[in-house]
Amino acid sequence: MVMKAVAAARRHPAGWLGAELDREAITWNFTSVQLRAIDELMEKLLRSGRPFDRVARRDFSHPALDDALAEVLARIKSGPGLLIMRGFPVDKYSADEMQAVFCGIGSHFGHAVSQSADGDYLGHVTNVEKASRGYTTNRELSLHTDSAEIVGLLCVRAAKEGGTSLYASSLRVYDIVAREHPEYMAALKRGFYCHRRGEEAPGDDPVTPYRVPVYATKDGLLSCRYVRGIIDRAAQVLGQPLSRFEREALDCFEAAALRDEVRFETRLEPGEASFINNYEILHARTAFTDWDHPARKRLLYRLWLEGEPPRPLRREIHLYQNRSGHMGVDPQPGRGPR
Ligand SMILES: [Fe+2]
Repeated sequence: MVMKAVAAARRHPAGWLGAELDREAITWNFTSVQLRAIDELMEKLLRSGRPFDRVARRDFSHPALDDALAEVLARIKSGPGLLIMRGFPVDKYSADEMQAVFCGIGSHFGHAVSQSADGDYLGHVTNVEKASRGYTTNRELSLHTDSAEIVGLLCVRAAKEGGTSLYASSLRVYDIVAREHPEYMAALKRGFYCHRRGEEAPGDDPVTPYRVPVYATKDGLLSCRYVRGIIDRAAQVLGQPLSRFEREALDCFEAAALRDEVRFETRLEPGEASFINNYEILHARTAFTDWDHPARKRLLYRLWLEGEPPRPLRREIHLYQNRSGHMGVDPQPGRGPR
């Protein structure tokens, strides 16, 4: 059974090695005709007064975009699972308008889900004081997955230094660990209790009452869910330290993903957006130094999208038991977007 899954992981188009990935081959460029189509759509949207972060597919449909974006989606979902879209007109539109454009393009790939208990459907990845989550700091973010099927990150302003994105195929990592250390596979599939960072619904446990599998298969699709920090935090809170063997299994998994030939590194420049198939591709970010002037601070817009229909996933892969039935983090009454 394991060997069958290993062979499948390597043959899968998302089972790539970073060393073999060509940035240009995974980059898709907007054409001038498509950019004019965006202008047309924006004119209509501005007249409609629709809130920018809730732009839906019906607001952003255009003959010059629809088929092309369907092809992009196919590459995200069934191809390499990592795609860079280049040419977002970040200098042309105001911040609000640019968010609308990003939401509009994203609406072709899935519907946006809330990214935190605050109910933000379009996250701002930037360095803020009193940060509550890793993505609102300038620190390194170690390899992990997010809480939705497709994650889009649009670079509006790059850092002065650093802020490089790292990606690794979790399908390929499965193949490597299963071949080199098959003894760890059971621990990775059994999974780990995870801390919910205080974003659980009222009445829910602060730590998952079930183990979240690092690897799980549903309807023949292998998915990966991994955030080391919340595994370690849960172990601490529960007073149940991981066994040495479990720590070794996680270290082995992460070290395999970070190997030179496995990981893929790139820096998103203004106007470029990465879209990943989150349950097949791990991501990370290096620390960064900001520009001094606040208006030049590194800024990326983030979308968490759920496929239509959603990717088949085992229930335990979700950190939250969302009452909405959707991916992401259900908003909590009274918290509201910050
Ligand atoms: Fe992330």
